[in-house]
Amino acid sequence: MEPLAAMYPQDVEFAVISEIRDAALQALAPDVADFLEGGAGEEVTLRANRTAFGRWGVRPRPMSGVSAPSTATTLLGLPLELPVLTAPFGGDALFHEQGHLAVARAAAASGAVAIVPEAGTFSYERVAETAPDAARIAQIHPFDHFDVVAERIRDAGYAALCVTVDCPTAGFRVRNRVNRFAPDLTYFAGNLVGEGTPDVAEMFGRLVSHDSPAWDWDWLAAATGRCGLPWIAKGVLTAEAAGHALAAGASALVVSNHGGRQTDPAPAALDALPEVVAEVGGRVPVLFDSGVRSGADVFVALALGADAVVIGRLAAYGLAAGGETGVRRVFELLAEELRTLMILAGVPDVASFTPDLVARCDR
Ligand SMILES: Cc1cc2nc3c(=O)[nH]c(=O)nc-3n(C[C@H](O)[C@H](O)[C@H](O)COP(=O)(O)O)c2cc1C
Repeated sequence: MEPLAAMYPQDVEFAVISEIRDAALQALAPDVADFLEGGAGEEVTLRANRTAFGRWGVRPRPMSGVSAPSTATTLLGLPLELPVLTAPFGGDALFHEQGHLAVARAAAASGAVAIVPEAGTFSYERVAETAPDAARIAQIHPFDHFDVVAERIRDAGYAALCVTVDCPTAGFRVRNRVNRFAPDLTYFAGNLVGEGTPDVAEMFGRLVSHDSPAWDWDWLAAATGRCGLPWIAKGVLTAEAAGHALAAGASALVVSNHGGRQTDPAPAALDALPEVVAEVGGRVPVLFDSGVRSGADVFVALALGADAVVIGRLAAYGLAAGGETGVRRVFELLAEELRTLMILAGVPDVASFTPDLVARCDR
């Protein structure tokens, strides 16, 4: 008998995201896998980020008539084919030699935007040359050399800054301490070039010392004002912080606990999302990260008020598993699952997401 056409793709290296994660963790040395997977402290926050998603269910809408939903949207004027951006994660060539060059190329091929990290292996300029359509937002830490770095970001053609506001000092990373993790710091030093930037030892020294100057919102408002680019405050977990970020002039926020890598224990990022969305009241876009692992998670975050989500470990899994191809596959699978749920819940487009699409469930 002739075989029927296959219902599921046969000729794919990765059928689901869990296969990508498994391949990634197999490819990495154990201490690098721990650096990627781990969180701060007892990893309460890291676990809470996942548990929080498990408390929500999508409310199906039978016979809604919705087919072929659109996942297209815009963020700060940047077009997105899917409401998903890649997160700035440092040390990227520890996961794959092409690091954020591959991430940004995959984002470009997927109609997405990559947030390019300051502590990455490759410079902002190099990533922007490689994938100018995707490398549109550059992440920066609020340290002394902010003005010099922000100027470079502007000159490289980025549309916006993403300022990490939740990292005045590095979180207490237990797995890295246990492993005596000692990566080659040049993996983090792609942007520590040119005049006015510290050397890598100085930069990392201040992240673990507890006596270097920590910025406040007034310093940040002044520095971002001098730069002139729109900026996104990454690492907001409370209505109070959201209010400060808006008063300081932020053009968008990322509700995030840094993937559980900073404050531990802290609230799950998803639990903080409604509080921040209510405080912002539609004045600026609200992005979300920390714990997104599937298209269903993207759906829940959008329903709870996020305008787009940011993927950290998911992008890194794709990178470690298969470079640019691996990250592209992550985007494809997220898009397929998100579109499936949009049809099942009768959501024609990104603008139609509302909180009544999800319900808290006791499971
Ligand atoms: C290996 C790794 C390195 C990271 N480095 C940075 C960084 O240098 N700056 C920053 O703001 N966030 C950094 N992050 C946090 C991510 O930008 C993002 O907030 C987090 O990964 C989101 O959570 P998720 O991994 O659960 O998606 C890093 C995350 C990982 C996994």
